[in-house]
Amino acid sequence: MNVLLIGNGAREHAIAEAIVNSPKKPKLFAYMKSKNPGIAKLAEDIQMGSYDNLDEIKNFTQSNNINFAIIGPEDPLNNGVVDALASVNIKSVGPVKELAKLETSKSFTRLLMKKYNIEGCPKFQVFESIDGVKEFLEELEEFVIKPDGLTGGKGVKVFGEHLHSIDDGIRYCEEVLKTHPSVVVEKKLEGEEFSLQSFTDGKNILDCPPVQDHKRAFAGDKGPNTGGMGSYSDANHLLPFLTKKDIEDAHEITRKVMEAIYKETGKLYKGIMYGGFMVAKSGVKLIEYNARLGDPEAMNVLPLLKTDFIDICLGIINGTLNKVRAEFEKKATVCKYAVPQGYPANPVKNKKIDLTDIPEEARIYYASVDEKGDGIYMGASRAVAFVGIADDIEEAEVIAENAVCSVKGPVFHREDIGTKELIDKRIKHMQKIKGL
Ligand SMILES: Nc1ncnc2c1ncn2[C@@H]1O[C@H](COP(=O)(O)OP(=O)(O)O)[C@@H](O)[C@H]1O
Ligand SMILES: [Mg+2]
Repeated sequence: MNVLLIGNGAREHAIAEAIVNSPKKPKLFAYMKSKNPGIAKLAEDIQMGSYDNLDEIKNFTQSNNINFAIIGPEDPLNNGVVDALASVNIKSVGPVKELAKLETSKSFTRLLMKKYNIEGCPKFQVFESIDGVKEFLEELEEFVIKPDGLTGGKGVKVFGEHLHSIDDGIRYCEEVLKTHPSVVVEKKLEGEEFSLQSFTDGKNILDCPPVQDHKRAFAGDKGPNTGGMGSYSDANHLLPFLTKKDIEDAHEITRKVMEAIYKETGKLYKGIMYGGFMVAKSGVKLIEYNARLGDPEAMNVLPLLKTDFIDICLGIINGTLNKVRAEFEKKATVCKYAVPQGYPANPVKNKKIDLTDIPEEARIYYASVDEKGDGIYMGASRAVAFVGIADDIEEAEVIAENAVCSVKGPVFHREDIGTKELIDKRIKHMQKIKGL
């Protein structure tokens, strides 16, 4: 079996590992924007190219007798790579462009949920012009403004953090509308966020254990937003601040959205529905969907997968996910990223890092690094992720922390991710939200 993987980050490194660990002994072929040394080592063959060069991707696929493809990041999905591969009879784990709107258009998802009466939306409106924005912002008082389109995690602005008045809000909506067809304005909620990643064939859903990511660059949730500095999951497949009911509610939202997509478009969504949820006072709310696994969240769940990942992929592609059970080890995980000093605003570039002293018990997933003749050099983004797996979060944290501290070079990381102190803070926050 020959499997094509598109993508070059740590998430794709974790996917690559899950593919080659299959007892079916598939051969991995990787199409990457830049050479990930971890993926390159696992692959039979690799090709470097851009994610909008659909012809090149098709050619690489055809010359390697690929059985199916897995799409890691959102950009190729947004470029219609799944449609392009379908045109040469290659099926993909990943939605067609029209259904990738679940991630690429925040208005699509909000309006779909509204039309099909799916609970879980904060109060919201979609605007195509500035008319009425002022009145709605005044009504909400505390608001969040979301451009309709991919913004690499940099488009959403939150009242109290990035915007401090109604005027700020109006100005930002005006700015967004210059470059985007519409803007979503919604009520700002308060609560704790978690990621629930689900595999779906359009009719059936298999959930991964929930994960909590940390977007802020510095300890104590300070500093600018990043792609995600690290994440954790718990051995009982809940999170310390989450109840079983919270997960069931999130699952129900995803199941209903999956059904609504089919009713609305007549097409089955095949791939990953990754819900970013928030437990607020009023219950579990949907913040957004992504149409792919999370980075770092993929590195928390895929290493725990006991089920053959290829069976999940085939279930998705063939519409037989009801015949597969996704089993995950009952272990806790903590993932921490080493990132270049100055990241995200002014990262040092092309600096060498030395990974020779990383303790063996940690898993290493490469992200934005380049392997040259004399060692590993960092790009401008998150460099390497380290994952600890253990019986509880505290133990997993020690493994990840020891590993990330062993990197030699101009890097930093968040030492607080997965620590008891930070987790207690999350629990207390949740208790306060729920009025306990
Ligand atoms: N309605 C909301 N209330 C409070 N915070 C929100 C809301 N919507 C988004 N956020 C915050 O903004 C972040 C980014 O928003 P999100 O919709 O996930 O967009 P993206 O990931 O594309 O930047 C979320 O992780 C959350 O912290
Ligand atoms: Mg998000």
